[in-house]
Amino acid sequence: MTNLATSFVLLVCFSLLLVYVSSVHVMAQKASGISTKFYDFKSLWHLSGTNQKCYKLCHSKDIVTINGMFPGPVIYAQEGDGIIVKVTNESPFNITIHWHGVRQTLSCWFDGPSYITQCPIQSEQTFTYKFTFVKQKGTFFWHAHVSWLRASVYGALIVYPKTGVPYPFKYPFQEHIIILGEYWLKDVVQLDRATIASGGSPPPADAFTINGHPGPNYNCSNNDVYKIDAIQGKTYLLRLIHAGLNAENFFAIANHKLTIVEVDAEYTKPFSTDRVMLGPGQTMNVLVTADQPIGRYSMALGPYMSAKGVKFQNISSIAYFEYSGAVLNSLSLTPKLPSFNDNLAVKTVMDGLKSLNLINLPKETDTNLFVTVGLNVQKCHSKTPKQNCQGLNNGVMAASMNNISFVKPKISVLEAYYKKINGSFTEDFPEVPLKFYDFVNGAPNNIPNNTDSLKGTRTIVLEYGTRVQLILQDTGTVSTENHPIHLHGYSFYVVGYGSGNYDPQTANFNLVNPPYMNTIGVPVGGWAAVRFVADNPGVWFMHCHLDIHQSWGLGTAIIVKNGKGDLQTLPHPPADLPRC
Ligand code: C2O
Repeated sequence: MTNLATSFVLLVCFSLLLVYVSSVHVMAQKASGISTKFYDFKSLWHLSGTNQKCYKLCHSKDIVTINGMFPGPVIYAQEGDGIIVKVTNESPFNITIHWHGVRQTLSCWFDGPSYITQCPIQSEQTFTYKFTFVKQKGTFFWHAHVSWLRASVYGALIVYPKTGVPYPFKYPFQEHIIILGEYWLKDVVQLDRATIASGGSPPPADAFTINGHPGPNYNCSNNDVYKIDAIQGKTYLLRLIHAGLNAENFFAIANHKLTIVEVDAEYTKPFSTDRVMLGPGQTMNVLVTADQPIGRYSMALGPYMSAKGVKFQNISSIAYFEYSGAVLNSLSLTPKLPSFNDNLAVKTVMDGLKSLNLINLPKETDTNLFVTVGLNVQKCHSKTPKQNCQGLNNGVMAASMNNISFVKPKISVLEAYYKKINGSFTEDFPEVPLKFYDFVNGAPNNIPNNTDSLKGTRTIVLEYGTRVQLILQDTGTVSTENHPIHLHGYSFYVVGYGSGNYDPQTANFNLVNPPYMNTIGVPVGGWAAVRFVADNPGVWFMHCHLDIHQSWGLGTAIIVKNGKGDLQTLPHPPADLPRC
């Protein structure tokens, strides 16, 4: 490519980014009171030949974006507000948008996961999402919930407290959105398909990104770097959002402490640390005070890989935290990130998370679910094993909950459930594993382990108001691994977690101030216990937020029935609900 062409393409990609960057400094300026805001989201595919490719890592390529922006437009609102987002699909791919962390109280139809609450919006079709931030505020994000389109279709969703309600910490001088992502040079929808067809594991991302920028450690990226201009002595609120696909990450700023004050859009007791770990689907607000000598400090995003034998991207993405007055282009100080397999560093952060506010935790529970999460290897049944059975031991990679790999149905579970259409899902997801054994270390006496999983669209059905305790248990069937398990429609109290197999006799629970989250990193080779009250009717996806695990079947759907009252009943579906 000639230099001229390169710079032109660069310009196009950067001009979009500038729009974005300038908008993130601005606080929502709005009248007090509860209001509804409208947004127009057009999903676009930058066609070749129109100079609208995205140039990164020395390559230009087409990506799907919302309104041509990467990352996508920021949505600002206030607690209690409603939003209406009209999504018009002008891309060649099926799309849906999910509002990650928004509980969708009585609005399950607008939650967004494809084939769970809706069929995808097909090319040239529209769907209008409408919902309210009921008793919710903080850092959220929105993302595509079809195939791997989240790789480029994501953006921040910031909900401020009601007018006059302060943050429970000193007001920061400025706020910045920091979206952590992964960038792929290949087309991600094809990559998802090709990976599944191969039976093997996906290649790692070509780069980690911070607000869409890989930063100077990557080829052709010296100027493709995000920067915060800081003033010495001031305190900044960083809204960290992990929108990546298949990797978990450590994040740190050289010589600066991060004080965690909010996780998954719920306040936490301030906890100060040198670094944090976020998995896909997690958000975290941290305060950073510019209390160091004037200079340029790096923010770094590196890998956390807890599984054995998995290839991962090892180059950190760098952004700058640059004090005003720093010598132009001065060398930057780089933080020391934990090594990629530092499980203790992850636990230390987790140990520091406590709810700030009084909690509404069910002390007793009605239903105890025990759900294993992990990978599987299916026996090869293909006539062309070289092409289709590239998994471990010449098998086909899969993943499961309670050893059942979730199969997405042809019509959405919610529609089939609501309209009583038979045959697309069943209601028999087991409340406990079909077999109990040493989940972490394998079958007893080295009996050769059958690593196959069952397949099905099996769901859990709960009566309205059920008080649920859910134990999530990692398995070592293939390799133990930290899985970021996300539940739609709810936040849950993380009352306990530990290593090894869950044992109710020895498990230690925090029933005083457990953090209230929507995505829990189940510790590698360990377990986590969460509690929630099933008081939001609808069909709610629960899945690993590592997209490859989701593609492999690591998920299930929880159906919560209507209650008796008006405000306990899911309304009718919207008229424009996409058809399959
Ligand atoms: Cu962030 Cu099911 O999603």
